[in-house]
Amino acid sequence: MIPDETPLFDPQLLEEIDWSQNTVSFRPPISPVHPGEGLILRPLCTADINRGFYKVLGQLTKVGDVTAEDFIKKFEHMKKTKDYFVTVVEDLNLGQIVATATLIVEHKFIRGCAKRGRIEEVVVSDECRGKQLGKLLLSVLTLLSKKLDCYKVTLECKPKNVAFYEKFGYTASDETYMQCRFFD
Ligand SMILES: CC(C)(COP(=O)(O)OP(=O)(O)OC[C@H]1O[C@@H](n2cnc3c(N)ncnc32)[C@H](O)[C@@H]1OP(=O)(O)O)[C@@H](O)C(=O)NCCC(=O)NCCS
Repeated sequence: MIPDETPLFDPQLLEEIDWSQNTVSFRPPISPVHPGEGLILRPLCTADINRGFYKVLGQLTKVGDVTAEDFIKKFEHMKKTKDYFVTVVEDLNLGQIVATATLIVEHKFIRGCAKRGRIEEVVVSDECRGKQLGKLLLSVLTLLSKKLDCYKVTLECKPKNVAFYEKFGYTASDETYMQCRFFD
């Protein structure tokens, strides 16, 4: 198994996002197709394991010991389901991933067999924070969930990040997030 450039999902989905529906202001203006000088916003590919993808994720949580084989197997599983939209920003000059966020589409029997989006693993590498990349990823994945006909999109976050997500129209729900953790 050799890491390659095959995208996890169709890159056109990102290119076709109707950016006029974006509700957040960007100064200077950036967009999914123009994320900034020397940057590209695109689906994850397995070659990103050699471009510091895990280094970025490691700034969010424990990533564990993952071999290239483990990574490729997981990628292939996600690709097959067509429900995982792991999106990255690459700095083309450095050949490094500098930000990532994931949209997962969950299928329901309720609400007329609707779909629900979940946003997970939002992280911008510390040296690139404050350059609007977090905002760009959140706007893009929120619009993508709408385009994919999700009836809602949700995420869990720390209280200190609530104000960040409110920018995109997310509101705190009166439900309590509960978990049963089996290992760390
Ligand atoms: C949260 C995070 C993704 C934001 O990304 P970023 O690239 O630094 O932020 P951006 O430059 O895109 O956005 C900047 C805007 O968001 C605001 N902002 C950034 N982080 C914020 C926070 N934690 N709370 C409130 N507002 C925040 C800024 O004030 C700025 O507002 P403005 O556009 O009105 O001036 C980034 O700081 C990060 O990766 N943090 C560590 C991992 C993490 O906590 N992830 C979220 C998991 S729920």
